[in-house]
Amino acid sequence: MIKHTLTIAYTEVSDASQLEENDSKLLAEAWKACESAYAPYSKFHVGAAVRLNNNSVLRGNNQENGAYPSGMCAERVAVFAASAMYPGVPIKTIAVVAKTDVFKLTDPVTPCGACRQVISEYETLSGQPIRIILQGNSDKIWIIDGIANLLPLMFHGDGLKK
Ligand code: THU
Repeated sequence: MIKHTLTIAYTEVSDASQLEENDSKLLAEAWKACESAYAPYSKFHVGAAVRLNNNSVLRGNNQENGAYPSGMCAERVAVFAASAMYPGVPIKTIAVVAKTDVFKLTDPVTPCGACRQVISEYETLSGQPIRIILQGNSDKIWIIDGIANLLPLMFHGDGLKK
């Protein structure tokens, strides 16, 4: 019997002034996206912004629907938009922010499982770790270097490619 132990890592900074300029700009783009989230049902507003290797920045936010499962998370809106508009251009960094008045949000909001899986697809495709920057209702920011830190033992669809 072999017991394996995996370690995940993330960095915390106390506010955006501690980020490098490109990252604080991306975070600001995510907040801009958050302002126009369409979340009339949950009132949980999420914004995302991705920076690509070619320095293009795309925004996404959660898009809800009266038929609940038809809605989409901010992260996937942004990442899918990036792949649609710049197919094959690697994603360098994704910033994700969230705000709500419905409950207290102290820690940064981390992507849901489906979004982690989607991010992992594009990371695997490019072979370059995607950095993930997260913030909630407080100044505190988490920085994660690569999706393996959020999705250990992730599924790769490589064997499915014909
Ligand atoms: N949501 C996101 O946009 N990203 C996440 O990572 C978690 C959840 C959205 C989906 C839904 O519109 C609302 O937040 C409540 O779940």
